[in-house]
Amino acid sequence: MASNSLCHLFILILSFFFLSPSHAATPSPLIFPIRKDDPTRLYYTTIMVGTPPTAVNTLLDLAGQWSWFNCDGGYNSLAYRPVACGSDTCNAAGGIGCVGCNGPARPGCTNDTCGVFPYNPFQNMQLAEGLGEDVLVVRATDGLKYTSRLHVRQFPVACVSSSALEGLPNTTTGVIALSRAMTSLPSKLWSALNLSSKVALCLPSSSKLGHGDMYIGGGPYYRPFTGSKDFSKSLLVTKLLVNPVSTAPISSEGDASFEYFVDVRAIKVDYTPVSFNNSLLDIGSNGVGGTKISTITPYTKLHSSIYKTLMKAFAEAASKKKIKKTANVAPFGLCYKMKTIGSTKAGPDVPNIVLVLQSDAQWEIKGANSMVRVSKEVMCLGFVDAGKEVTTSIVIGAHQMEENLLEFDVNSSTFAFSNSLLLQNTSCSHF
Ligand SMILES: *[C@@H]1O[C@H](CO)[C@@H](O)[C@H](O)[C@H]1NC(C)=O
Ligand SMILES: *[C@@H]1O[C@H](CO)[C@@H](O)[C@H](O)[C@H]1NC(C)=O
Ligand SMILES: *[C@@H]1O[C@H](CO)[C@@H](O)[C@H](O)[C@H]1NC(C)=O
Ligand SMILES: *[C@@H]1O[C@H](CO)[C@@H](O)[C@H](O)[C@H]1NC(C)=O
Ligand SMILES: *[C@@H]1O[C@H](CO)[C@@H](O)[C@H](O)[C@H]1NC(C)=O
Ligand SMILES: *[C@@H]1O[C@H](CO)[C@@H](O)[C@H](O)[C@H]1NC(C)=O
Repeated sequence: MASNSLCHLFILILSFFFLSPSHAATPSPLIFPIRKDDPTRLYYTTIMVGTPPTAVNTLLDLAGQWSWFNCDGGYNSLAYRPVACGSDTCNAAGGIGCVGCNGPARPGCTNDTCGVFPYNPFQNMQLAEGLGEDVLVVRATDGLKYTSRLHVRQFPVACVSSSALEGLPNTTTGVIALSRAMTSLPSKLWSALNLSSKVALCLPSSSKLGHGDMYIGGGPYYRPFTGSKDFSKSLLVTKLLVNPVSTAPISSEGDASFEYFVDVRAIKVDYTPVSFNNSLLDIGSNGVGGTKISTITPYTKLHSSIYKTLMKAFAEAASKKKIKKTANVAPFGLCYKMKTIGSTKAGPDVPNIVLVLQSDAQWEIKGANSMVRVSKEVMCLGFVDAGKEVTTSIVIGAHQMEENLLEFDVNSSTFAFSNSLLLQNTSCSHF
């Protein structure tokens, strides 16, 4: 055993030497698997971090600024380095103050360490932890399969204790930050490997169908059963917006948001626009209003007045299709008898909900992305009422993103999407 792991370490050191980014000719995009935690309807990826590399399942959070995971239980990477408080790296990472620890020294327990504030969205609690840097082992892709492994040093990460994990899916022990913040996983990889500033998500709809993919650095994007079709060429493109006011739980005055906002201009049910106060769609100078995309929100959340008019329009269109209502099942407000609904390639045959985005890019939400099966006989419209006192009027949730390919390009400020891949005889899910 001992000699085996020594040998392993030796091979690692060798591959580190030969595959370090500076030796790579043209940067290839990177690929990470995405798995769904079915009970919580949240998504995670497995990162390989530290020396020797340890596999850690981390929740995908498009809003996250810092990545963090639980280092209790023997995580003792030889490559881990604390970031010193007051250092340039600390300032650039948005760190504040100094964090100490009574020892013994290990990753997550060091003195004079740059303080950052990992956020557990399910505890609604801010932690103060020391920021560290560690090695990340990533896989390059040609859009289809893994081509090589790369080691990226100075990946920013904070170690937390197990109590910080409360509320996360029990398949995960941390969170991977995917926002536009400089410390996020994509930002770090873009700059370390000189990749184009793109992150793309293809979320699977069920763990039983295999895994989906996250691409960092751009296309090509190939999907199962579609041969050499490169989906990066056929995405619909709209603007990606920056909310000028931070939506994070802790921020300095004047900070813009790290989250991804898009510009929904109208909502239609089939071909009919839904009417509500359209000023809810704009981001005000106070940061209130507008539309963002969230991987930690299972179902799209709408401001009450949008929700109510959408429900009404959908119910009318559904009744024309002779779809029969049944008693509501929380948290949903519109449920139907399954046996009155037909089926299509893209799920239940229900009215289409269309988000009309800036430059008239139409995000068509078909049955597979609009309906949620709550029992053998009942299916509900998978949108929820967020109330009237909301900061963001529309939070597009993960159910509406599944089996769609979505690409965020930070430097060119574009958001590109495929619509349901099921309509194109493919999906996000594969083995
Ligand atoms: C994880 O949580 C699910 C429910 O969310 C539960 O059914 C399962 O038993 C849990 N697994 C472990 C290992 O605790
Ligand atoms: C941090 O400093 C304190 C006080 O000098 C010391 O007792 C403690 O062991 C140090 N912690 C670590 C992890 O070295
Ligand atoms: C980074 O990539 C761009 C184009 O993709 C290229 O022009 C530039 O020279 C590259 N920089 C380095 C340091 O390799
Ligand atoms: C994105 O733009 C910033 C600022 O203009 C620049 O520093 C960075 O290198 C660019 N990154 C990519 C991946 O193009
Ligand atoms: C629409 O909403 C905006 C902002 O919430 C509000 O100021 C305005 O009065 C509303 N207009 C109407 C016609 O209700
Ligand atoms: C999907 O497959 C059907 C037949 O199975 C075919 O008629 C259709 O053209 C295909 N669609 C696309 C987008 O490839």
